[in-house]
Amino acid sequence: MAKIVGGIVTSHVPAIGRAIAGGLQEDPYWKPFFDGFPAVQKWLDEVKPDVVLMIYNDHGLNFFLDKMPTFSVGAAPSYDNADEGWGIPTLPSFPGDQDLSWHLIEELVGKEFDLTTCQEMQVDHAFTLPMKLLWPNAGESWPVRTVPVCINTVQHPLPTARRCFKLGQAIGEAVRSWDSDARVVIIGSGGLSHQLDGERAGFINKAFDLQFMDSLIKDPAWATKYSVDELVELTGTQGIELLMWIAARAALGSVDQVKHLHSNYHIPISNTAAGLMVFENLD
Ligand code: DHB
Ligand code: FE
Repeated sequence: MAKIVGGIVTSHVPAIGRAIAGGLQEDPYWKPFFDGFPAVQKWLDEVKPDVVLMIYNDHGLNFFLDKMPTFSVGAAPSYDNADEGWGIPTLPSFPGDQDLSWHLIEELVGKEFDLTTCQEMQVDHAFTLPMKLLWPNAGESWPVRTVPVCINTVQHPLPTARRCFKLGQAIGEAVRSWDSDARVVIIGSGGLSHQLDGERAGFINKAFDLQFMDSLIKDPAWATKYSVDELVELTGTQGIELLMWIAARAALGSVDQVKHLHSNYHIPISNTAAGLMVFENLD
């Protein structure tokens, strides 16, 4: 059966793509952010995953307000990104893993998650930037196959934190029951606190972010006690992207199954609290 080697949760901001393209990793503004990543790249070199299952939120590239699935899973042979208007360079195609995609879809639908299955899917900065941050030297060919899983954070009503936690648990069970010897890493891309528009534009809640990061180590279901509205109040209109972290962490299993390896937190990057955590699975 397939093995989950661990998980990575990270914030995303389009400006990261511009910073990478401009070689700004040592720039004083960017250094505290990029300095979080070499330890993760080294860990990936050691655990050598074959597949990335990326839980992220699309921002209007693949889904728009006219059709907005709550949960969707990619089942394409490959995934491309496209110009979203941020001026960041597009990246080489990401190979899919259709075998895992369809196994995941079968298992999740069997567990009563109503999904949208996408046999064509464009992936936006929330998917592409973690890939580039984690494999900066990938060049034209990525060393991993990918399965994108999207959670709606754009068009309300959004799924609750509790529902995303359960989705994550079901994803973990599905990956572990996949008849394959593949090594899978789960990535959650989104958050932490940020608000891009309205009266609270620029809002960041460091105290909550740090408590939330700590909860993923000690009590991963902690944030599920909050409603979506409460999480928006606490973290900002886009801070709700932390649902990706909740789902990804839930996929890894209980506190006994998981070892916390690494964290970084830096504010702000663009308008966002930039957090990064790595967990290794012990089983
Ligand atoms: C920013 C953050 C996001 O999560 C996003 O999707 C776009 C922009 C920002 O802080 O600039
Ligand atoms: Fe975002």
